Amino acid sequence: MHHKRAFGETGLNVSPLGLGTVKLGRNIGVKYPKKFTIPNDKEAIDLIYKAKDLGINLIDTAPSYGNSEERLGGLLKDTRNEWIICSKVGEEFKNGRSQFNFSPRHTRFSVERSLRRLNTDAIDIILVHSDGNDEDIVTNFGTLEVLSDLKKEGKIKAFGMSCKTLKGGLLAAKKSDGVMVTWNLGYEKDVPIINYCTENNKGIFIKKALDSGNAVLSAEAGSIRKSFDMILKHRGVSSIIIGTINPIHLTNNTLLAEKILVSE
Ligand SMILES: NC(=O)c1ccc[n+]([C@@H]2O[C@H](COP(=O)([O-])OP(=O)(O)OC[C@H]3O[C@@H](n4cnc5c(N)ncnc54)[C@H](OP(=O)(O)O)[C@@H]3O)[C@@H](O)[C@H]2O)c1
Repeated sequence: MHHKRAFGETGLNVSPLGLGTVKLGRNIGVKYPKKFTIPNDKEAIDLIYKAKDLGINLIDTAPSYGNSEERLGGLLKDTRNEWIICSKVGEEFKNGRSQFNFSPRHTRFSVERSLRRLNTDAIDIILVHSDGNDEDIVTNFGTLEVLSDLKKEGKIKAFGMSCKTLKGGLLAAKKSDGVMVTWNLGYEKDVPIINYCTENNKGIFIKKALDSGNAVLSAEAGSIRKSFDMILKHRGVSSIIIGTINPIHLTNNTLLAEKILVSE
């Protein structure tokens, strides 16, 4: 996967597939259809190096993904400069449940903690981890404004929001470098956000492209190919973040994406 795509106007160039890391750090309170065991250190490092060998340079994490950030801090320590790291602010996962805090104070605390956990001087992209009240967060909390300050201070290089609503997603896109939205064969409600971002040079990450694994289990043959085909052919999409801990799935997904990109 030599080809890279721009994340809006940030100067960051990402592989069209990224690696999502929920399953590297958390296996409770998740919505995946099958139970799984969190990979051990050997399995995790093998997965990261497999991704790197395949040309993937984008890795997505969050404070709410268990110890995903801390693990990545160790796993990426020798190759840090070769990765674009995207993390989040706003959601914490404690004692088996999610808690949300979008205040300016918590936002700054959270980013500084992520810098320590990820063992880095600057995080490439920070997204607000929405609880579903996108508009309220963008309008009333000042979260994006603190992220803009942190960008000026050089602690992050870009910021935006992982959105859950159309109206809030459009608002967030207007006030930031880019957004993460859901798009899969059964969910197309966020496509107007993607179109807005394309027209206005904002970055776009796609989450849940395989409906968190449900698409894979559906009876419909070729659902991964159909989903990738639909998404990758949209010229505005920067990257699809796929959450996998299976190196064979990672390889197959990358080969499939490459085939689609070559045929464009
Ligand atoms: N910010 C947010 O609010 C938010 C919310 C959700 C997700 N995300 C980000 O987006 C990423 C992706 O979302 P997601 O993990 O929910 O959903 P997803 O990428 O749609 O689906 C992941 C699931 O699909 C399975 N899978 C992947 N490739 C496969 C293949 N070739 N064959 C069979 N199964 C396959 C994975 O299982 P295996 O491990 O067995 O491959 C995993 O259980 C997350 O990891 C996270 O980084 C962000």
